[in-house]
Amino acid sequence: MSVFTTEISGANIWITGASSGIGRELAIKLAQADNTVFVSARSRAALDGLRAQDPQRLIPLVCDVGDRESMADAGRKLRAMTDSLDMVILNAGTCEYVDNADLDLDMFERVFAVNFFGVVNCLALAKPLLQRAQRRGHIVGIGSLSTVVGLPRAEAYGASKAAMQYLLDSLRVDLIHEKIDVTVVRPGFVETPMTAANDFPMPFVMNTEQAAASILKGIAQRRRMVEFPRRLSWSLRIAAMWSGLWYSVMAPRLSRVNKL
Ligand SMILES: NC(=O)c1ccc[n+]([C@@H]2O[C@H](COP(=O)([O-])OP(=O)(O)OC[C@H]3O[C@@H](n4cnc5c(N)ncnc54)[C@H](OP(=O)(O)O)[C@@H]3O)[C@@H](O)[C@H]2O)c1
Repeated sequence: MSVFTTEISGANIWITGASSGIGRELAIKLAQADNTVFVSARSRAALDGLRAQDPQRLIPLVCDVGDRESMADAGRKLRAMTDSLDMVILNAGTCEYVDNADLDLDMFERVFAVNFFGVVNCLALAKPLLQRAQRRGHIVGIGSLSTVVGLPRAEAYGASKAAMQYLLDSLRVDLIHEKIDVTVVRPGFVETPMTAANDFPMPFVMNTEQAAASILKGIAQRRRMVEFPRRLSWSLRIAAMWSGLWYSVMAPRLSRVNKL
């Protein structure tokens, strides 16, 4: 039986990418619900600012998820603060778009270092702590609706999120006897520093409060997949179902390459 029902409370939770956007909003909401929340990002100043909101429940853990040494150090610090975790929310992420179908290897490596290998790094650190929890453990990965169907300029970002999603889907199977649940969250567009520079329309865009509410509702129910907003998720699913129409008629209209 699930420990968390409608609200997540009294749990030890580690959230990566908590210095801004979705992760910051989740951290604040979870601290308000009486959880102890270890908040990670590279920017110490932003995490200290977050801690000021609730110094007892919001505990900074500065680290770079793409850097092995930084993560080894974070692991030592986290284990000194707690011997178990009930939940990890793998939210740290970066987005870079491909221009003119130019496949720049350095850019792909930067994106995968955070969105894929960063998740592997954090999971390796979190898994033994999740196994020691009294409650049923929970791994939550923040993916993206961009993985439903091929989107223009998302070759690196979408591929990194698809790889992360597969990693978590596969881990769900291998953890089945460990009493650890795995949830993949696929948000649509959310107004955050990450999307602030987007120079294209963002259909059905949400704010961070709406996004955090959808995520918390889905993870409290321990759903395998949480997607929002529903209108964008259904639109993309229909595009994937009618992929001939999508790739020959609709997607080319979104591509910038043929407009050069
Ligand atoms: N916004 C959207 O529309 C949208 C849609 C779908 C999915 N998502 C996903 O949602 C997650 C949160 O994104 P957001 O929109 O809230 O963006 P954001 O405000 O830019 O937040 C990204 C977070 O990740 C952290 N981060 C980046 N690189 C890191 C690294 N190497 N090590 C540790 N932390 C790192 C950042 O902190 P520092 O820079 O201080 O390290 C920041 O806290 C991401 O995984 C993103 O892909 C967002």
